[in-house]
Formats: sequence, structure tokens, C-alpha cells
Amino acid sequence: MSPFRLTRTLPEDTTDAALRADVHEGLTGSPKTLPPKWFYDARGSELFEEITGLPEYYPTRAEREILRARAGEIAEASGARTLVELGSGSSEKTRYLIDVLTGLHTYVPVDVSQSALTQAGQALAAERPGLEVHALIADFTARLTLPGTPGPRLVAFLGGTIGNLLPAERAAFLASVRALLAPGDALLLGTDLVKDERVLVRAYDDAAGVTAAFNKNVLHVINRELGADFDPDAFAHVALWDARHEWIEMRLRSLTAQTVKIPALELAVDFAADEELRTEVSAKFRQEGVREELSAAGLELTRWWTDEEGRFALSLSVAR
Ligand SMILES: C[S@@+](CC[C@H](N)C(=O)[O-])C[C@H]1O[C@@H](n2cnc3c(N)ncnc32)[C@H](O)[C@@H]1O
Repeated sequence: MSPFRLTRTLPEDTTDAALRADVHEGLTGSPKTLPPKWFYDARGSELFEEITGLPEYYPTRAEREILRARAGEIAEASGARTLVELGSGSSEKTRYLIDVLTGLHTYVPVDVSQSALTQAGQALAAERPGLEVHALIADFTARLTLPGTPGPRLVAFLGGTIGNLLPAERAAFLASVRALLAPGDALLLGTDLVKDERVLVRAYDDAAGVTAAFNKNVLHVINRELGADFDPDAFAHVALWDARHEWIEMRLRSLTAQTVKIPALELAVDFAADEELRTEVSAKFRQEGVREELSAAGLELTRWWTDEEGRFALSLSVAR
């Protein structure tokens, strides 16, 4: 078994303070919103894994197809000795890269979910003798301090998770990734592509109701962490396509007029009947838009691969 290290870059009370600030700001604003990172406690991470196997949820299968076909080219282009993965979750697809990066010294999975990091990191350390696994509990939207490991570095951001950031957040995020890249390093970015609205909406509103349970999990998190009295059954899961912004929105619709108490914030939040709380956006992309956003952050797109059906793209870019 190779070494497995887990580092928390932020003290636990910072996470607590961030949750309080986000919930306060999001539920007192109009319209009400919550950032998607709070879905991912242990249960939320499990539910997300379940989503990746659903028949309606094509992004994981499409991205896996590209990785299976192109991992060799990616490895050859990057020659990475350190693989950093942002929002790594189960690290399941990452194995395609780890398998072919012959000079790989250290894998650095970065996630807010301690349970996902521990499970995935320990499994990889056990499977790959000689590979150091240094997991970081961190928020990838905050300034990241990476461990001093050998270069070149490949920073992977898979799953289309970049689409969960709003445009201004994406610009700030890409600029911070650019700041992590030295000459010879590269960014491997997974982006879900614009497609038929029905296919998109089904991917976020599956027949078995797993995505609905994932969406409502944020209410369980707030109940547990802040002593709130959300009744998840008093909200309906909503997924809709916003054609102007080219993103999917997940929302929770209040089924009745109700007041939710959040004692840790000394807050009572009124919901009107049918009022909606936005819990996630998932932007869908086109190649030109990805190129432009990367370029605005000082990154140059050098390779672009899609799956056979053109549903999802992986791109490689380097610092300009
Ligand atoms: C959509 S899932 C993708 C997981 C995996 N990369 C994949 O492709 O299947 C998003 C992952 O990012 C993590 N995450 C979400 N927001 C985050 C943040 N602000 N900082 C760090 N991790 C975050 C979640 O815990 C989750 O594991």
C-alpha cells in the first residue's frame, strides 16, 4: 500500500462559518438561492454516485468514453508527474489517466467531501503501490495551496462541474487555476455541451427520483448543521432549461406557504406557496465559448475531444 495523506487546508470552523454565511445570504435574498457545494455531505456524495449510473444521466458515460479513448494522448501531451483533481468525488474516471501516466508520482484529489476523499484516496493508495495520494479537503473556489510535489502538473476538472459556477465565478476560478500552472503544466477540463432540451432536462429529473433526493439533501444538511426545521416533503424538485443562459437550473418549489426556522442563524424564512429556491445551475457549453473563457483567463486551448455523439467535451489547455 502506498502513502495516503489527508490534509484539511481550512479549519473546520471555517466550513461552518461559510455554511452559515451562504445560508443566511441565500435565504434572505430574492430570489432565494443556495450554492451547490452544500449538497455534498456523505449522503449527498453517495447520491451523486448513484446519479452517475442512471440511464438518463449521460455526462459520466460520455466523459468516460472520451477518457477511455484519449487517455494515452492526454498522458503523452502532459507527461504529468503530479495529477491534481478538483472536485474529485469518487475519482472513478480518473483511473483511466492514472493508468497511463507512466511517470506519475503524486495524485492530489481536492474536494469538500471528506467521506468521498477518504474512500477514493484510500482505495487508490491500496491499488497503486508507489503512487502517493495526498488528498486535500478544500474549496476549489477559494485560493488553493497545493503540496510541493514534482512537476509537470496536470490539473483535471472533470464531470462538467465547472458548469455549476456562474459566469463571473467561472472567470475568477479559471484565473486562479491559471495561477497554479507553471510552464509545462496543463488543465484538463470536462464540459457538458448544449444539446436537445429534453435530453438535458431528463438528465436532471430522472424517473427513479434520485436527483430529487440529491436536490433535497441540501435541506437535510441545513437541518443537521444549523438546527433548521425544513420538511423536505414540503418541497418539490424542479429541473428546467434556461435557453438564454444555456444552463439547467435545479430548484426546490415550496408546496405551501410555510415558515422555516433556522435557530443557529436566529432566522425565520418565509416561503410563499410555489416560491422557488435555486439550488444549482449547470451550464452547458459550446467549443467557442470554452475557448474564449479560457483565453480570458490567460489559458490557451490546445486540444478538444468529444464523445462519438458529441454530448460532452474534454479540452486540454496551457498557460499563455
Ligand atoms: C458533479 S460532482 C463531480 C464528481 C467527479 N469529478 C465526477 O466527474 O464524477 C462535483 C464534485 O465536486 C465537489 N465540490 C463541489 N463544490 C466544491 C467546491 N466548491 N470545492 C471543492 N469541491 C467541490 C463535490 O463534493 C463533488 O465531489
